[in-house]
Amino acid sequence: MEALLAGLAATDLATALRGSRWLYAAVNGGHILGIALLVGGIAPLDLRLLGCWPSVDRTVLERVLTPMAEAGLTLAVLTGLLLFACRAPDYADLTVFQAKLGLITVGASAALLLHVRYGRALERAPAGRLRRAAALSLICWTGALGLGRLIAFVGP
Ligand code: HEM
Repeated sequence: MEALLAGLAATDLATALRGSRWLYAAVNGGHILGIALLVGGIAPLDLRLLGCWPSVDRTVLERVLTPMAEAGLTLAVLTGLLLFACRAPDYADLTVFQAKLGLITVGASAALLLHVRYGRALERAPAGRLRRAAALSLICWTGALGLGRLIAFVGP
């Protein structure tokens, strides 16, 4: 595993990222944009499922915000992997980074299972199940955001 992580950090792409301030800034900016789309899409949806804005049609919100959150997660994962490659052995050692990846895995798996089970617009889901899923989702994504920011203070 250690050799794999060291190999990842030695790739041309990781070396180029470490060597270019502007390239790194562009990838970091892409990561922030992905996070903004992800959390900006998912938080209003979760709050609606938890009972906020009862007069706003849930299916309309879902039609707009679910694809936005999916695009944000895709962008955050792709750019996150590039940032990770820059210092793979150091990041992999950090408890904060491992906890962040744990929350992302739980958040993404829970969302996937929910949609597979209850439909694209969650039309078949009971209200209690939706409220629990929304609470878990809020914890996972805001937690991942907080831990991601924390890496800068405890990391390499
Ligand atoms: C596989 C997915 C991901 C990987 C591998 C990853 C990896 C990383 C890495 C290596 C950094 C740089 C840390 C540093 O040195 O300061 C970072 C920053 C960050 N990540 Fe991620 N990330 C992923 C997904 C996410 C997601 C889904 C979120 C939010 C929900 C997130 C939130 C953040 C935040 C807030 C920062 C700090 C950005 C900054 O202050 O410039 N990450 N991530």
